[in-house]
Amino acid sequence: MPQQADLLRALAARGAKPPPAVEWHETIGSTNDRLKELARQGAPEWTVVIADRQSGGRGREGRRWVSPSGGLYLSVLLRPRFRGTGLIPLAAGVAVAEAVAEQGVAVALKWPNDVVVVEPDAGASDAAEAGERKLAGILAEASPGSQRTDWVVLGVGINVDLEVGTLGKELSGRAASLGELAPGGRVTIAEVAAAVLVRLRVWYDALGSSPESVTSAWRARAVRWWGERIEIRVAGERLRGRLVGVDESGALLVDREGGTRRFVAGEVALLRREG
Ligand code: BTN
Repeated sequence: MPQQADLLRALAARGAKPPPAVEWHETIGSTNDRLKELARQGAPEWTVVIADRQSGGRGREGRRWVSPSGGLYLSVLLRPRFRGTGLIPLAAGVAVAEAVAEQGVAVALKWPNDVVVVEPDAGASDAAEAGERKLAGILAEASPGSQRTDWVVLGVGINVDLEVGTLGKELSGRAASLGELAPGGRVTIAEVAAAVLVRLRVWYDALGSSPESVTSAWRARAVRWWGERIEIRVAGERLRGRLVGVDESGALLVDREGGTRRFVAGEVALLRREG
């Protein structure tokens, strides 16, 4: 498949090791689901599954990830040998933000790891969500059961060269695409995939040696919502509070009546700013 050769070339041009195996599908249900099968069969760390399109792409919190051609749909297999695997999604967010930034597009991270483009002035008085468009999302899924994490399948979806209008009415206003934003013109999926894999190795290695460098890199790229009133949707509930920060394990800290609460999952939205 030509795209696969392009990926290997792009990795070699960066002096990066090729993955032990790459499966590149034209269409698949979900690259994460396919890679989970390979993980159970004992596939080595850094095995990669990519697809041009997904018919059953999955997002966080049980949502769908609409996956027409023009997007990057990539899953990579990790077999962590360190503690603190809870920081993997944050490390992946930093890696994807850096890979995207290489194309000259400024992005921010919204907890835990949405990669968003924030319009200047957004949130000054209106609901900030109106000014924030999602460019990429990450879905990390770990092996169930045992005390030790055997594998983590890390799925990355990036709108590379797709018309956001093709994502449907509900999503198009809230989505952004690299092709439409990159000052340098056309961006290829293989280039972006190579950049993601290279940056991911850097931040994954950092998790083993200095996890605090990952949380500080994440904080440096986060949307500036600290101290603001937010709503967090978690397990069918909507809770409000003031955003305090992210702790060393990657959990979100929110001040509510009765004290600070820690969240390890959920969807955060900024509430209308006062004044
Ligand atoms: C999110 O909700 O923001 C996470 C989206 C993750 C989408 C990617 S695309 C590749 C991989 N395969 C999937 O089915 N989902 C992830």
